[in-house]
Amino acid sequence: MNIILLGAPGSGKGTQAEKLAKYFDIPHISTGDILRNSTDPRIQNILSEGKFVSDDEMIELVKKRLAKEKNGFILDGFPRTIAQADAIKSYPSKVLYFKIDDELVKNRLSLRRTCNSCKAIYHLENKPPLHESKCDLCGGILTQRQDDKDVVIAERLRIYHEKTAPLIAYYAKEGSLVEIPSDGTPEETFKKILARFGL
Ligand code: AP5
Ligand code: MG
Repeated sequence: MNIILLGAPGSGKGTQAEKLAKYFDIPHISTGDILRNSTDPRIQNILSEGKFVSDDEMIELVKKRLAKEKNGFILDGFPRTIAQADAIKSYPSKVLYFKIDDELVKNRLSLRRTCNSCKAIYHLENKPPLHESKCDLCGGILTQRQDDKDVVIAERLRIYHEKTAPLIAYYAKEGSLVEIPSDGTPEETFKKILARFGL
């Protein structure tokens, strides 16, 4: 099974991907996580400003990665443009679109913390870690992402609406879009997803 997660920054793609990867036992491929691991200062600069890495680079990176997956995948953060979507047309996928308001996104992102080591995702109010600054799962250090500052969040939302939101109509036309309201708790959202899979 191939699953694409589509939605604004902070809509819960990473949170639901963790659950889906466990449930279906397929890999979670997050282009954001891959890029954050890069040691290239040019890439780190793009991320810290909330801009997009070029389509050509992203398409090459993702195509190489998908070629290794024979039993399906959860793709989180790709495609983000029409050109990226066109590039993976040969992988029939269900596209889960997480619908959410910008205001809720701003709260979620400003209070997010992420494990430096296993990438687990927390929220200081909605999903607080048991011990401050320490990952419940692996004991790694929790930090705030460099792009989770208010001014960068605003820029990420702007680019999302300009370049990524058109993919909603693109996949609806293709017949592969499944809309999931993403304003409930993570558990509620996960149940809604499973229900749409008939599970
Ligand atoms: P990426 O890492 O993909 O960032 P993003 O799309 O901005 O999304 P986020 O990871 O911020 O949010 P999310 O939807 O995963 O939400 P989460 O589950 O963490 O990309 C980063 C950057 O890389 C981009 O800006 C770009 O520069 C570059 N990039 C990546 N892919 C690219 C591509 N294809 N092309 C070009 N450039 C690319 O949840 C957020 C918070 O809310 C957490 O604290 C969580 O605990 C909380 N939360 C989640 N769900 C709920 C809920 N239901 N109720 C309450 N709280 C919740
Ligand atoms: Mg994410």
